[in-house]
Amino acid sequence: MTLNASHPLMDGRTADSALITAYRGGKPERRPVWFMRQAGRSLPEYREVRRGIGMLDSCLKPELAAEITLQPVRRHDVDAGIFFSDIVIPLKLAGVDVDIVPGVGPVLGAPVRTAADVAKLPVLDDAALEPIRDAVRLTVAELGSKPLIGFAGAPFTLAAYMVEGKPSRDHLGPRTMMHAEPETWRALTDWAADASGKFLRAQLEAGASAGQLFDSWAGSLGLADYRRHVAPASARALDHVRDLGAPLVHFGTGTSELLVAMRDVGVDVIGVDYRLPLDEANRRLGGTTPLQGNIDPALLAAPWEVLEAHVREVIAAGAAAPGHVLNLGHGVPPETDPEVLTRVVELIHRMEL
Ligand code: CP3
Repeated sequence: MTLNASHPLMDGRTADSALITAYRGGKPERRPVWFMRQAGRSLPEYREVRRGIGMLDSCLKPELAAEITLQPVRRHDVDAGIFFSDIVIPLKLAGVDVDIVPGVGPVLGAPVRTAADVAKLPVLDDAALEPIRDAVRLTVAELGSKPLIGFAGAPFTLAAYMVEGKPSRDHLGPRTMMHAEPETWRALTDWAADASGKFLRAQLEAGASAGQLFDSWAGSLGLADYRRHVAPASARALDHVRDLGAPLVHFGTGTSELLVAMRDVGVDVIGVDYRLPLDEANRRLGGTTPLQGNIDPALLAAPWEVLEAHVREVIAAGAAAPGHVLNLGHGVPPETDPEVLTRVVELIHRMEL
């Protein structure tokens, strides 16, 4: 299977865009930049349209999800939209009792802790993904030559929420399960891989030009556990979309020791968090993998001179890699002044290649 001839990546709209060119290791005509969590609480126009509508409900209203995805693209002139949705949407669409509690994060009605709990998980029906496809179609019709990035949660990060039933700092539950009950763990992460893989495939088929797998909490694992208990499921999630030929990005936080293993699940680009300079990330990856990152989100609140010097340093360090897409080293903090983001984009686009 491949993408259809009228897909933005196939019909000439996005294949030569700065983002896709850099993801493929080529030389773009301008330095591409987008921000994780660019759509969301830092924008007054987001808070306005979200008023009175729950987070997951807003993801399932196609016009609203498209509008929220487009808001930061219009405002900041970033080089890509990131689809407005959430990593737990495939759980919700499969029929799992999950919600996003403001200020807390994903919370499940009942945690998934035993082999019986895993066996009861409902299979995600492809037809349930129609609101996602609708939202993507509406979004790409407006984006024109700017690519839309689709995404999904990696199986470890999803399973971490499912086992704990809520956000946690140390992820003790999933880390115990992978050793104490490896078969249950394997079944759970396979389930999560298939749900996330179908969610990402729906976005790519409907018009997204690249895909990013978020393994936000993989940094709580050592390399041996990551390779043995997590990487196979992440590879399985991506197996759902490899045939489509869209560039794939893999990102996690605290993953400086895992970068090679994360690349080895089979992706084109590695997203680097703010902890590791990009020249060192490039060295660890053997100089062959395009990178994305890694402006420290904390510096968005620093005086402009401090932030500007940091952005220049990130660009200089990224020059070592065979391709570099500017981003933050994690999501936009909600209290960020959006004008600072616009100014960062202008600076990046103004700098000589
Ligand atoms: O611009 C974008 O990146 C928009 C799309 C997006 C959202 N969530 C919207 C969202 C993406 C790519 C995500 C991914 C996501 N969701 C991740 C991986 C990225 C990361 O940050 O590490 C994770 C871990 C989640 C789970 C999740 N959803 C958390 C921890 C929270 C925060 C809870 C809170 O209120 O502090 C959410 C909610 C969420 N997802 C919001 C947004 C805009 C905020 C909810 C709101 O505006 O009411």
